[in-house]
Amino acid sequence: MSEMMSEMMTEQTSLLACPRCDQPLEGWQCRACQVAFPVHDGIPWLFADPGAAITEWQNRWQHALARIDADRQSVRSALKGQLSAPTRRRLDALAQGYAEHRAQLDAILAPLKLSQGSRLDTHLALRTRLPGTQGILSYDANVHRDWCWGESENEAALSEVTAVLNGTSASRVLILGAGAGRLAYDLHRTLQPALTVAMDLNPLLAYVGHRVCLGEVVELTEFPLAPLTPEQGAIKRRLQAPEPAGTGLQFVLADVMRPPFQPGSFDLVITPWLLDVIEGGAAPVLARINHLLIDGGTWVNHGSVAFQSPDPALRLTLEELGCLATEMGFQTTTGREASLPYMNCPDSRHGRIETVSTSSARKVETLQKPEKHRALPDWIVTGKCPVPALSSFQNQAMSTRIHAFIMSLIDGRRSLKDMAREMEAQQLMTRQEGEEALRGFLTKMYDEAGRSSAL
Ligand SMILES: C[S@@+](CC[C@H](N)C(=O)[O-])C[C@H]1O[C@@H](n2cnc3c(N)ncnc32)[C@H](O)[C@@H]1O
Repeated sequence: MSEMMSEMMTEQTSLLACPRCDQPLEGWQCRACQVAFPVHDGIPWLFADPGAAITEWQNRWQHALARIDADRQSVRSALKGQLSAPTRRRLDALAQGYAEHRAQLDAILAPLKLSQGSRLDTHLALRTRLPGTQGILSYDANVHRDWCWGESENEAALSEVTAVLNGTSASRVLILGAGAGRLAYDLHRTLQPALTVAMDLNPLLAYVGHRVCLGEVVELTEFPLAPLTPEQGAIKRRLQAPEPAGTGLQFVLADVMRPPFQPGSFDLVITPWLLDVIEGGAAPVLARINHLLIDGGTWVNHGSVAFQSPDPALRLTLEELGCLATEMGFQTTTGREASLPYMNCPDSRHGRIETVSTSSARKVETLQKPEKHRALPDWIVTGKCPVPALSSFQNQAMSTRIHAFIMSLIDGRRSLKDMAREMEAQQLMTRQEGEEALRGFLTKMYDEAGRSSAL
């Protein structure tokens, strides 16, 4: 480890708290829990159960590789058909791109391969788990925007955040959900605090951000959504920072719901494009930010306000987010909105314009310490209490029974009408209802099988 890195880690480790029991860490260890938190390639893994988090990310990485292999295989099959010249050029670019992408991911994630994982049931015992929706490639477009083509988008983000900060200085900054870290890098160079921590739970983003900020070039292939030309179906990018970040910028792998820091560790906390993607809504995150900040510290929120929770009460508008901030001990000082391009890759016909909201709020009250986040209920973790008969489970059970029966009727000889007669004989539904249900179900199956390969 370089001298620069160890100096900076000393500054950071004095702020660390165990994500399991909240006791201060000694070095990278919690004596009370007898856990050593691994540091790979300069990035600490500060999940409540780091071994289980490593295993989970190793699994998600293998899942991503399997998908890349499947995509590559289907491109190879398609290349055997009659194709126009440009389609052949696009598929050739994709086939090569998938092969490169696989090798690049293997290289970037190599530290993860060498690390020791542990069984996932310890995750359960601690009631933690990685959010189910996050895959290793969930935010790979952000990596290319951050470190290749997104100069104007990156500048706009920095300018919105510095505008609401309005000259506020900071000595210890925490970026939650920092992704590949461009805003963390730009703010670190602009505000020049002693320490900026870029925290995320995705190791691909953290490893790329970390290496790029050290001044390295990382190669990664991008697959634009709507390539301008056939050859732009896959583009090998060179990811690079304008200059090395210098001292004091540290990437950390951890979960926002179990932040591994002592209360009052930071004077500025930033949530860029985070609150509306957190499973469980914004309130638990704000409660944690309240504790991470010193009295009078600043919280800046930046990004879209596009909550998509299954719970309608959690799909907040900007006004509701403002009320929540007040409840969570914050006084909003500045707010602004701007219509900004978002993920407008120059090699793609696809891009978005977003109404981006940026606000700055001061901590005016310290809330009660939030309870430990419990990602799963007891009836899953201990397995000793009754599994509740939720209405969604009952609906699912009924449709699974009907679908299983339909599948058992498919024998390569029966027609849709024959099957509807069988369903009526079993008193599942009338023949007419059965025909309608079968048509809907079989259409879905046909789509899922891929129309071109189904007869
Ligand atoms: C919409 S992306 C924004 C990333 C980055 N701030 C940017 O603007 O490019 C949301 C980020 O939050 C991270 N994230 C989601 N849930 C998280 C959690 N529970 N703890 C830490 N990071 C989380 C994701 O990995 C992802 O990098």
